[in-house]
Amino acid sequence: MTKQQQRQLTLGVFLTRHGHHPGAWRQPESIGSGRPDFAHWAHMVQTAERGKLDTAFFADFVGQSGASTKGIERRFAFLEFEPLTLAAALAAVTSKIGLVATVNTNFDQPYALARRFASLDHLSGGRIGWNIVSSLADGAARSFGADPSFSHADRYERASEFVDLTRQLWDSWEDDAFENADRESGVYLDPDDVHPVHHKGRYYELDSVLDIARPIQGHPVFVQAGNSDVGRDFAAKYAEMIYAAAQFIEDAQAFYADVKGRMARFGRDPDHLKVMPGLSFAIGRTRDEAQDKFDALEAAVDFRGELNLMGQDMSGYPLDGPLPDLPEPANGKGRWKQLTALARRENLTIRQLFLRFNAVRGHRVVIGTPADIADQIEDWFVKRAVDGFNLIPPVLPTSLDEFVDLVVPELQRRGLFRTEYEGSTLREHLRLPRPANRNRAAAPAPSPVLEPAS
Ligand SMILES: Cc1cc2nc3c(=O)[nH]c(=O)nc-3n(C[C@H](O)[C@H](O)[C@H](O)COP(=O)(O)O)c2cc1C
Repeated sequence: MTKQQQRQLTLGVFLTRHGHHPGAWRQPESIGSGRPDFAHWAHMVQTAERGKLDTAFFADFVGQSGASTKGIERRFAFLEFEPLTLAAALAAVTSKIGLVATVNTNFDQPYALARRFASLDHLSGGRIGWNIVSSLADGAARSFGADPSFSHADRYERASEFVDLTRQLWDSWEDDAFENADRESGVYLDPDDVHPVHHKGRYYELDSVLDIARPIQGHPVFVQAGNSDVGRDFAAKYAEMIYAAAQFIEDAQAFYADVKGRMARFGRDPDHLKVMPGLSFAIGRTRDEAQDKFDALEAAVDFRGELNLMGQDMSGYPLDGPLPDLPEPANGKGRWKQLTALARRENLTIRQLFLRFNAVRGHRVVIGTPADIADQIEDWFVKRAVDGFNLIPPVLPTSLDEFVDLVVPELQRRGLFRTEYEGSTLREHLRLPRPANRNRAAAPAPSPVLEPAS
């Protein structure tokens, strides 16, 4: 078997209540209300598990509506369950699929978060991933009383100290520290198995030991979605899976080579980072049927609400006019660049740009039969533009049902995707190494065990 054949496609799904397309919630097959509904989430994640997907991903745009409620009645927004709480409930109704929850380092504390993730990793049997974000939208800053002027570079620096600290906290116990309680002698654990953390950094100070055993996976799988220079460095240093958005294969290949190329500086193997751009799709028995489905979604988009393009307010400009020259936004500069390049290249109006780019937030869209979609996935995978895709289903739950029932079997037939989960932890699905406890690695080698003379 060649190395190429051995390389396995990674597939995750980015779940939202109605699906990703702004026209989704008005489709008859979508769950037509914003009422919290766990059964709906359980159904979606169980479908993804039926399709043997690696991960289900839960984003978090916490507090962003705090900036303004103008236009909120028509705004397509993430108003959802808190991701860690949701992941805990989902862990109980699934057994294999990885659960990736987003937590923003600006609004949490390393100790509190290390404890919650360790708990979740145990509760799920080692299936937790952390999407590490450090974005600071105005509304979120206001919701938490945070300083909105805290710079992008400082946020990444603080996130870095945050992540380093969580790793130390997870390593504050040896893996088997709680396995050796001895009723007879009254010794509950070995004091050599505990490694208190003493830390005084630029942002955090603590002296502590985590109050739960080391996670099953050593630490949760680190996921990240940086796009800026500093964001890509952050990914190269920490991330084991990176989300991205690319509409053209040349952009995806350049991104893939760039982030993997940065890993050597941090002493990491490029195979230990899965590059996962988004993939949106419309599936039909024929190409025409698929296109009709996608057209129906576009027709359901309501342009009467507050119109923004990647967060920039467009309500003062004619919908069918060109994109005006605007300053780069503070957050998401990379995607703004992609959007303006597309507008200039194809001379698109604001309405067209909204449909082509914003409606799928810059992700690639493929429209066609299951075989067409499998062809597109295979092409990008083989040409090293991706290690897999983070699916962006336009309408949920139906688009995911279709992908699992029609495209996954096609990928399996081609030998690109697993037919069964081989392992039980997320690390095993992704073929990622389990990180060793840094204290053990640093400790002097134990003296060799002498075999008793026979
Ligand atoms: C698929 C995907 C999912 C993302 N999920 C979140 C999220 O849940 N919460 C968030 O605040 N930002 C999220 N982001 C934004 C990124 O964390 C990041 O801020 C953005 O890509 C810009 O990168 P930069 O900060 O390096 O400029 C996501 C980005 C992508 C591509």
